[in-house]
Amino acid sequence: MKMKFGTKAIHAGVEPDKTTGAIMTPIYQTSTYVQEKLGEHKGFEYSRTGNPTRQALEQNIAAIENGKYGLCFASGMAATDAIIKLLNPGDEVVSTSDLYGGTYRLYTKIFANYGIKFHFIGMESPDKVAGYINENTKLIWVETPTNPMLNIIDIKGMAELAKANNCLMAVDNTFATPYLQNPLDLGADIVMHSVTKYLGGHSDVIMGALICNDDELAERLYFIQNSSGAVCGPMDSFLVLRGIKTLHLRMQRHCENARAIAEYLLSHEKVEKVYWPGIPSHPNHDIAKSQMRDFGGMMSFTLKDDSLEAAKRMVEKVKIFSLAESLGGVESLVGHPASMTHASIPKEERERTGVVDSLIRLSVGVEDVEDLITDLDQALN
Ligand SMILES: Cc1ncc(COP(=O)(O)O)c(C=O)c1O
Repeated sequence: MKMKFGTKAIHAGVEPDKTTGAIMTPIYQTSTYVQEKLGEHKGFEYSRTGNPTRQALEQNIAAIENGKYGLCFASGMAATDAIIKLLNPGDEVVSTSDLYGGTYRLYTKIFANYGIKFHFIGMESPDKVAGYINENTKLIWVETPTNPMLNIIDIKGMAELAKANNCLMAVDNTFATPYLQNPLDLGADIVMHSVTKYLGGHSDVIMGALICNDDELAERLYFIQNSSGAVCGPMDSFLVLRGIKTLHLRMQRHCENARAIAEYLLSHEKVEKVYWPGIPSHPNHDIAKSQMRDFGGMMSFTLKDDSLEAAKRMVEKVKIFSLAESLGGVESLVGHPASMTHASIPKEERERTGVVDSLIRLSVGVEDVEDLITDLDQALN
């Protein structure tokens, strides 16, 4: 039966346990499976290769991304690592320059040493990206909305460019979640998630995922997943299955709260700029409107006093918002990208993309928004 998003979030991939009828997928905390005869088993041999709790989650995540195949990993970074392992020395990647610092670090400090060349550029238009593509280009890497500047990249345009040049196109869909945006429907080949964030939703798990539609691509990724072995455990799979059951409810509230906070910040005298794709004056508002269903719970802003000290005062004064790395949990977090998530990107490079000293990032949670605004107000004033 064709299901809508909320129904899939709760039911896809999940069946009552065959032996007991338990409605919740059991945590199959096992490394191996007894074979009745040589080579005769029930579909599982060893838990790096496959585990029933992980498999239920992989099917669930594939379904909510409108994909055929889902693969779960020990972290978002492990999922991205698996994508780059599809490439060979001499291959080139064109990546957005405004991306998660850990992804930049993985590309420049690890895979560059294996002879893979990365180009980091602003992805304002497919035409601009086209200028960086040559016969060695094998992958276009898109993160949208970007972290932490909340730029929006045209997924359909980049996917068409990738197809025309016979290369893969992957989207880090962590900020948007499948509730807001489905890159496979727009032509992307692979969707990547830091499941740690909104999919888990409760700041209690580190996990990553890949979703794709192509049979051969899926086979190559499963081979890498099993061979490199960075899989997630059954307990974490259970927690994320539980988290996803409320993804649609949480995202709806994240978006509503973010809108109210963006409006509050826009009117504050000490605030210089607010970066949230739902604001009509946001430079990519139209693309956001065309490829996203709403605008998400992540936003950034800068202060008129663009100093490290002013940002430090603000992030240390909040009481309901917690000063912490990460995002996407039910609780609101505040972060300072220049010294936290993006500290591994050189200052000139980060400032070129807008990550200035006073930039403050919010992961707006699902608390009562009046309390969140009161908290920001006392910290700003
Ligand atoms: C957009 C984005 N992509 C990837 C990652 C990496 O995911 P993980 O921390 O689960 O390895 C993060 C983590 O902060 C992120 O924000």
